[in-house]
Amino acid sequence: MIPCNDSIRVFEQYKDEFEAAALGVLRSGRYVLGNNVKEFEKEFAASVGSKFCVGVDNGTNAIKIGMQALGIGKGDEVLVQANTYIATVLGITANGATPIFVEPNEFHNMDENDIEHRITNKTKAIIVTHLYGQATKMDKIISLCEKYHLYLLEDCAQAHYAEFNNKKVGTFGILGFFSFYPTKNIGAFGDGGAVVTDDEKLYEKIKMLRNYGSSIRYDFELENGHNSRLDEIQAALLRVKIKHAEEITNEKVSIANIYLSEISNPLVELPRVDKGCKSVWHLFVLKVDDRDAFIKHMNECGVQTDIHYPIPPHLSKCYKSLNHHEGEYPKAEYLAKHVVDLPIFNGMTTEEVNSVIKAVNSYGK
Ligand SMILES: Cc1ncc(COP(=O)(O)O)c(C=O)c1O
Repeated sequence: MIPCNDSIRVFEQYKDEFEAAALGVLRSGRYVLGNNVKEFEKEFAASVGSKFCVGVDNGTNAIKIGMQALGIGKGDEVLVQANTYIATVLGITANGATPIFVEPNEFHNMDENDIEHRITNKTKAIIVTHLYGQATKMDKIISLCEKYHLYLLEDCAQAHYAEFNNKKVGTFGILGFFSFYPTKNIGAFGDGGAVVTDDEKLYEKIKMLRNYGSSIRYDFELENGHNSRLDEIQAALLRVKIKHAEEITNEKVSIANIYLSEISNPLVELPRVDKGCKSVWHLFVLKVDDRDAFIKHMNECGVQTDIHYPIPPHLSKCYKSLNHHEGEYPKAEYLAKHVVDLPIFNGMTTEEVNSVIKAVNSYGK
């Protein structure tokens, strides 16, 4: 079976470097907030074009702590796209704020034309998710944030180094949030996350919030601090990934380009990339009418598929109290029923790519 993702392959590609990095930490005796976290933060900030970076324990907490640092809380509304991963929304509700959902566009990102009518005097921020690796078209969203004095936040968990108009995601808003979950384009070997910003005060605050609300040992300054630090060993491993980020990204882009040129089946709708938006192809997501039949066919051909995501956040059980109902966000709900992703990962062989193409092209024939 060709898996949808296989994290061991990228390990094998740079095995010696990863092993040396991990051993270096094990032998250093410094396992929390050491030199690797410090250097990782500098290197990652520079690689995305931000001034500052704070390494945290995962992407969900990056969002949660980032919003906390901005003072987003009870009584505030945050606009978020209706087809994002639940973690984006958890970051809002963990702070006591209310998510206001916005429909996605045909590129699976926030629909810039569905935003303005949802802005109220309670709206504090818009968080865009650059979903599946494709940068969101940012110009109109930036203008709306300026017009209504809203914080612009970016969930870049799936889109390391994606670009809109040649500028990397994470640098458009006041805060950019990243996940380094192992299957992400830039993934750790365990959990990891980061917040990037150009704002020095916020940087200092987030650094404290991730460390019990303190910058001086046993002097606790900020309320509701967390233990949400990026592990030293993950930082060391991520530094290897950052060093090879261009190759890692390009490999996924080239697999996506082969899919785009070789898959041809009228029963399958290929993903498209919006003008000015670069995708780093974290996921390769198709739309099909009869998804169950497609998945069954792919399985019979020895190809695993996956669904990101089968239930939109507004219909998730955990948000029952928000009183949303089916039919409220028809575009997001349509996607939840029809999207399906193909295998795409670093270290995928040419034979595997060709088998996936053959399987998709033979669907319904
Ligand atoms: C869009 C999006 N946001 C946030 C997250 C949360 O990241 P993590 O799993 O590191 O908490 C993810 C991870 O899957 C994600 O895909």
